[in-house]
Order: sequence, then C-alpha cells, then structure tokens
Amino acid sequence: QAMARFETEKTYVMVKPDGVQRGLVGNIISRFETKGFHLKGLKLFQCPKELAETHYGDLSEKPFFPDLVDYIVSGPVVCMVWEGPGVVKSARKLIGATNPLESEPGTIRGDLAIEVGRNVVHGSDSVENGEKEIGLWFGDEGVIEWEQAMSPWLR
Ligand code: PPS
Repeated sequence: QAMARFETEKTYVMVKPDGVQRGLVGNIISRFETKGFHLKGLKLFQCPKELAETHYGDLSEKPFFPDLVDYIVSGPVVCMVWEGPGVVKSARKLIGATNPLESEPGTIRGDLAIEVGRNVVHGSDSVENGEKEIGLWFGDEGVIEWEQAMSPWLR
C-alpha cells in the first residue's frame, strides 16, 4: 500500500447554465482531470429554485440575488465533486477571480468569460463549505468513493 503523500479533501464544482449552453463542459472537466484531481461525483441537473436560494443563501441580501437565482435555474448545470490534496484552494485558482475581467488568462473564467453574472463555473471557497455544498447538491447518493489504481507516477 502506497503512503498518501498529502491530506486529501473534496470540493464542489459546478458548471453554470451558461457553461452548459456554450458547450464548455468538456473543456472545464478536462482542466481538473489533467491537473490530477479525481472525479468523485458528476451529474447534469436542473436546479429547483429553492436549492439555488439555499446554495446562495449567504447572498440573499445582495441586490443581484434574484438575478443570480434566475440565472442558476435558467437551464441545466453540471454538478461535480473533485478530490485531491488542496483541491478546494487549487480549484478556486483554476477557476479564477469572480469577475472574469479580473481573472488571469489561463484560468477558466479568464479564458472563457467576460461577465460576473455569467461566469461559467462555481467552486466552494472552503473545505467546510465544500462538505456542505456536496451534501446539498448530491445528498447521500451520487458521490462514489474509488481509489486510483496504484502507480508510482500517479496519486
Ligand atoms: S460578494 O459580493 O463579495 O458577496 O460576491 P462574491 O463572494 O465575490 O461572489 C459570490 C457569488 O455571487 C456571484 N456574483 C454575482 N452574480 C450575479 N451578478 C453579480 N453582480 C454578482 N456578483 C457576484 C459570484 O459569481 C459568486 O458566485 P459563485 O457561484 O459562488 O462563484
């Protein structure tokens, strides 16, 4: 049995409706996959309004909240669980700054978006929120615990 080299953790990542409509799902998945993270949950999902309101509950007082909820329920999203060492912070780096005009080139938003209200993808901002969001979007089903076949070149 190989020794784990890093503490592993999970994060919740979601391709928002604009990403699905624009055909960016494969591009986005590919970035996490080639980085070396492991896919532990994946579904295409039409989000009900109540779930969008709960997920973004902390923002309910913001002026953009109604638009944000309408946007998230405007079409199917792709819900994902990614696992790996430091994946919460790393996923946020791969995703880039919230405002796509400020995201660095090379990040998902930096490469693929221009509007904060259409910023293609969501990623949990902490391990704790990741656990909460995975529970919210996947419940008890849909997250599969699997181990990568052992190889000294892969974690
Ligand atoms: S804030 O204002 O600091 O609370 O916002 P922030 O933490 O950066 O972003 C929280 C989520 O709100 C989305 N957001 C917006 N959506 C629509 N319109 C506007 N103007 C807007 N501003 C922020 C932002 O994309 C974050 O969503 P997620 O899905 O978590 O990335």
